[in-house]
Formats: sequence, C-alpha cells, structure tokens
Amino acid sequence: MKYRTFGKLGIQGSAFGLGCMRFNGEASGDSVIDEQKAIGLIRRAIDGGVTYLDTAYVYLDKTSEVVLGKALQDGYRDRVTIATKMPQHAVHDRASMQALLDEELKKLQTDHIDFYLMHGIDRKGWEYFKSIGAPEFFDDMKKEGKIRYKCFSFHGSYDDFEYIIQDSDWDMVQIQYNFMDINNQAGTKGLELAGRLGIPVVIMEGLLGGRLARAPENVQALYDAFPVKRSAVEWAFRWLCNRPEIATVLSGCNETEQIDDNLRIFDTVEPDIMTEEELKLMDDVREAYISRTKIGCTSCRYCMPCPNGVNIPGMFSIWNNISLYGGDPKHDWNMQNYRKKGDTPEKCIQCGACEAACPQHLNIMDELQRAWKELN
Ligand SMILES: NC(=O)c1ccc[n+]([C@@H]2O[C@H](COP(=O)([O-])OP(=O)(O)OC[C@H]3O[C@@H](n4cnc5c(N)ncnc54)[C@H](OP(=O)(O)O)[C@@H]3O)[C@@H](O)[C@H]2O)c1
Repeated sequence: MKYRTFGKLGIQGSAFGLGCMRFNGEASGDSVIDEQKAIGLIRRAIDGGVTYLDTAYVYLDKTSEVVLGKALQDGYRDRVTIATKMPQHAVHDRASMQALLDEELKKLQTDHIDFYLMHGIDRKGWEYFKSIGAPEFFDDMKKEGKIRYKCFSFHGSYDDFEYIIQDSDWDMVQIQYNFMDINNQAGTKGLELAGRLGIPVVIMEGLLGGRLARAPENVQALYDAFPVKRSAVEWAFRWLCNRPEIATVLSGCNETEQIDDNLRIFDTVEPDIMTEEELKLMDDVREAYISRTKIGCTSCRYCMPCPNGVNIPGMFSIWNNISLYGGDPKHDWNMQNYRKKGDTPEKCIQCGACEAACPQHLNIMDELQRAWKELN
C-alpha cells in the first residue's frame, strides 16, 4: 500500500480508502447488509494496509456506521482514521447536531471521529449549514476532541465549490472525480483549486460506482491496442493517483477479490507517473464511454426509497448497461426481473423527491420515462 500526505494537515493516509456504502449488492438494489461478510471485508482491507474508512449516517439504511463500529473492535480502531458525515435533513439547530454526533459516536463505538463532513453539499446546503451554526459547532467539537477535522463532501457546480472551499477554514474536502468527470461538479478545476489552497482531497466514485470497472467493447478495444496491459480498474485508479492533490481514493468493495485487487493496484500508484501516451489513451477512453452512456447515474441510491416504489437506480443501470454492453431488452435477464418485481417507472407520480435528492442533479422523472419507453 502506498501512503500519501494529506496536504496542509501533514498526516499520512493510505492511497486506497474503503467506502462503506456498497456492501452486499447495494449497487444492484439489495439494501440488506450481510454483517459478517462486511466485517470480514473491512478487516481484510485494514490488514492489507488501508487506514482510511468512509461511512455516513444514512448509508445502508443507517446500518453502515454500526457495522463499521463492530468491525473496528479487537484493536482495529487504533489502526485507522474514520470519516463520517452529518446529513442536512437530520439537523436544524445545535441540540440536534449534538444529538446526531453523539449517536454516530455511539454507533461507531468510538470517542472521536477523525474526519467529520457536512454531507453532500452544494451552495444551498452550505448556506443551510451556516444558518444553523454548523461551522461553529464543528470548531467547538474539534476543541472538545470529539472530531479532529472539519470537512465537507460536495455535489454541485464548480462555482459553488469555489465559493464554499474559500468560505471557511476546511481541513479536507471529498469530491466525486474520475476520468469521466473532469468537467463535471468540482472537476479538475476544483481539484486544482483545493491543491493550491493546501486542502487535501478525498475522491469518491472513482469508478463511477463500478461503471468504469467493466469496459464496453469499444473501450476494451482501446485498452487491448495499448502496448502496456492493465485492467480497466487499474487504468482508472492509476489515472486518479497520478494527481498529486489527491490524498485518498475511496472505493466501495463488495467482494474479497475486489479488496485484494485494489490492495494490489494501490501498491503501485504514485503521483505523476503516467506518460503522455497513457494520458492520451484515457482521453480516447473517455470519448468512447461518452458515445455509449445513456445517463450519468452512479447508483449511489440517494434518491431511494422512492415514495411511490419505483426502483430508480435499477432502471438507469439496465438502460446504461444495455447501451454500453449490448443485448436485447426483451431477453435481458435484469430487465425481465425488473419488470417482474413491478417497481417500474409507470408508478412515478412526478412528486420530484428523487430530483431533490440526486447528487448528480439528473432530470430523473423525464429520464425514467425515456428509459422505460426505449427499453420497451
Ligand atoms: N459523500 C457523498 O456524497 C458520497 C457519494 C457517493 C459515495 N460516497 C462514498 O465514497 C465511496 C466510494 O464511492 P463508490 O462506492 O461509488 O466507489 P467506486 O469505486 O466508484 O464504485 C464502487 C464499485 O466499484 C466496483 N469495484 C470496486 N473495486 C473493484 C475491483 N477491483 N474490480 C471490479 N470492480 C470493482 C464495485 O462494483 P460492483 O458492486 O458492481 O461489483 C463497487 O461496488 C462510497 O462507498 C461512499 O463511502 C460518498
């Protein structure tokens, strides 16, 4: 495992950070967590050198923090740093922020959280957190030793990012970034700004929720033609770790093989190691993906549960997969299963709850109908 310096904080952390949002098939719609399996995965990652673990109050129906707390018993807590988050919807004043933090500490079975993040904010979210005194609360909790670092995770435009990152004395920022998202959300411009400010950057969705792990035919052809052979996952992580501003790349792993593969990859990555030819390859790969992607959904499930029972990420994942990897919707097993379960876009009543929650700011209601029509 390679370790990297967290900007102005000066501390070291593992280049691979384990995300605790995708255990047990979460990405494909199964939200029931297999606790023993998840604990095994977390400990395997730590034994392999991972020192950074990312969770949040809301992940996996609020069970992710509990499972992480259990996994960190038997001496594991002292070997790692924990990042968790405060969701906007659960707090409205100092008392509710205090109650939430205390609940998270209890669930995690720890007396302090290392990186405490205002969760998934854009400018509106930041203004809300300021209006309830969150920045002062975070500063006070730092003084009390309940948290070590004041941070935020971000889903918004570059302009929002530029404003928020300079509007407080942040210790770390978490952004969505991968070779497809150079001009999306904070993007490369945001990454570079954080770097200039000395603020360490933690990356989420480095594989776009897993989409970049499976190369479609046109992308695989590009990888195959390149003289150096690497897997799609390795290319994606290598591209990220080439950037010196990045402290840790999070990845949510569901399987032992994925943990082991990532441990291997993150043992080889360094800043500034990619050649001109390799960077050009990734530009070509980006274009090849864009030509086949239907919608930028990453199956993060922030839109779920839908009040009317539509399986939103399930629909978009089938739509993208058939476009990327081919196949006939009539005979596609996932499509047949989706239809059988009945959680289809026909149930949508256009209430808009999903669009308000989507960190990618997708036009979910219209796109659901487009996907359903095309696939039928
Ligand atoms: N703060 C926020 O707003 C926010 C939002 C999103 C995520 N996050 C955090 O960031 C973490 C990372 O994001 P992410 O989970 O979306 O990361 P990601 O790396 O983009 O996607 C994870 C998925 O990639 C696939 N994968 C990972 N390693 C692989 C390997 N070696 N080989 C093949 N496939 C592999 C798996 O997909 P399959 O399961 O399909 O196999 C896995 O579930 C999350 O777990 C969460 O903790 C935070």
